[in-house]
Amino acid sequence: MGLVNLNRVLLKAREHGYAVGAFNFVDMEVLQGIVDAAVEAHAPVIVQTTEGAIEYAGIAYLAAMARIAAERADVDIVLHLDHGKHLEAVMLALRYGYTSVMIDASDRPYEENLALAKEVVKLAHPLGVSVEAELGRLRGIEDNVRVGEAGASLVDPEQAGAFVRASGIDALAPAIGTSHGAFKFKGTPRLDIDRLRRVADLTGIPLVLHGASSVPAKVIEKANRYGARIEGAAGVPDDILQQAIGAGICKVNTDTDLRLAFTAGIRERFAAEPGVFDIRHILGPARQAVKDMVAGRIGAFGSAGRG
Ligand code: G3H
Ligand code: 13P
Ligand code: ZN
Repeated sequence: MGLVNLNRVLLKAREHGYAVGAFNFVDMEVLQGIVDAAVEAHAPVIVQTTEGAIEYAGIAYLAAMARIAAERADVDIVLHLDHGKHLEAVMLALRYGYTSVMIDASDRPYEENLALAKEVVKLAHPLGVSVEAELGRLRGIEDNVRVGEAGASLVDPEQAGAFVRASGIDALAPAIGTSHGAFKFKGTPRLDIDRLRRVADLTGIPLVLHGASSVPAKVIEKANRYGARIEGAAGVPDDILQQAIGAGICKVNTDTDLRLAFTAGIRERFAAEPGVFDIRHILGPARQAVKDMVAGRIGAFGSAGRG
């Protein structure tokens, strides 16, 4: 099968009430861990790279690996540009066969964000490439001291409706209280699910949850057991994630969980076998740890058997 776009996997997900996992990769091992888990679960999957990943590995390598993965897999695979900040990155992704792009101008004024989204839609849609954009700032709700301030960083549902109608984007990432990385919540984890429901009603398109990693205590413990020092980490618990899926989230972005699984796997190998220097004996178990993590995430999203 060839690579497909977001509409192919997300419209089905929205109709049936599950979400598709969008996983970040920067190398072959992580990509293979993701795709192997998706194939085993017969789940559709989105593999995505940031501008940073492209700078690290080179877009030609990343795109070629994803294309080969999709040719060999019997499930739907989307190759998506994650957090494209510049038009140049979007155009490069289009040139290298990405089937979906995100233009992330959420840190710019609304009118600029909208103008860029429109421009990207104009470039991408004739090629059959889907477009995601973002509204609001990704910040934990409890990071804000005053209630009014919390609302200010989260998405405005009315504005989201207007943005989607004016831009013609295919998917929207609304800020509802998550943040990137391993330290999402200082107190009780909380997302603004009511706000999310209003965004879903007023936009009518599939919604995307960024900063959705679960940051499992077991993986943190494993990393720390083998020499890491990660304190105070907290992710999005599965029950809250599932409420978000019930309220309109169809694409769930996960990067941190894979980084944690991969590095904990490497730390364990070095500890178990201090003399190891065959990199296959180090990266192979790390790839397996990514695969196990992705399998667990697919279970939580409800996308198994939907490939
Ligand atoms: O938002 C996605 C990532 O977790 C950040 O990735 O370090 O490749 O920019 P990056
Ligand atoms: P996490 O840091 O929670 O994995 O979020 C990843 C993400 O949103 C990628 O776009
Ligand atoms: Zn993100």
